[in-house]
Amino acid sequence: METIRVGAEDRVFVLTGAGISAESGLATFRASDGLWEGHRIEDVCTPEALERNPGMVWEFYSARRAALKNAKPNPAHFALAELEEKLGKRFFLCTQNVDDLHERAGSVRLVHMHGELLKSRCSAECGTAPVVDRMVYKDLSAVGRCTCGARMRPHIVFFGEVPLEMGRIQQEIEKATLMVVVGTSGSVYPAASFVHWARQAGARTVYVGPERPLNASAFTHVVEGKAG
Ligand code: APR
Repeated sequence: METIRVGAEDRVFVLTGAGISAESGLATFRASDGLWEGHRIEDVCTPEALERNPGMVWEFYSARRAALKNAKPNPAHFALAELEEKLGKRFFLCTQNVDDLHERAGSVRLVHMHGELLKSRCSAECGTAPVVDRMVYKDLSAVGRCTCGARMRPHIVFFGEVPLEMGRIQQEIEKATLMVVVGTSGSVYPAASFVHWARQAGARTVYVGPERPLNASAFTHVVEGKAG
């Protein structure tokens, strides 16, 4: 096993993707048997899909909620929570994942840049905060309404929408001396550019995953292996 050295002066920024939850039994997106199999992205993960066919969008994310109920954090999630415990404010976790496995492993200093599966929010973006929602909907008529009257939508950043917390993410990357990226194919932006931002800020950059990501050449080091 390769060791990634973290020194007393290091500030660590970790970016995780679907691969870190693969060993918990949650499908990744772009594998041959991946999540999008049987679904076109534009049918379930775009603002247009929500407008055209909210029932299908809710059906897709309800199935994701049902799968998440049976999943547990794996050693990779626990290792990051342990690292945070050691480093405190010198550690920051940004996940592209919408599952809650990092929280369940004990991570606290984290942001979900692509939203959270177990929350819903107003589809009219009226300004009301997202609410916790673990329901698996069998029918669109069961989906609740916001106080403004609009139907609730999954608290998910769809393709074409702006990721969450970008200001904070940028600040944390600028401060980091070590970036560790785990289990992401490097195909979705802006997350795939974080390694470049970190390099510009002078950080070492390490990728961990079983295959080389699309942006592999931007990393100072690639550790080939499963996250767990
Ligand atoms: N450990 C680490 N990495 C793994 C493992 C594992 N056990 N198993 C698979 N992987 C890697 C794959 O090699 C692949 O590079 O996880 C990556 C998963 O890639 P994607 O399915 O493209 O997922 P991700 O990069 O997280 O997707 C980014 O795209 O679909 C949108 O919003 C969605 O957040 C998602 C974003």
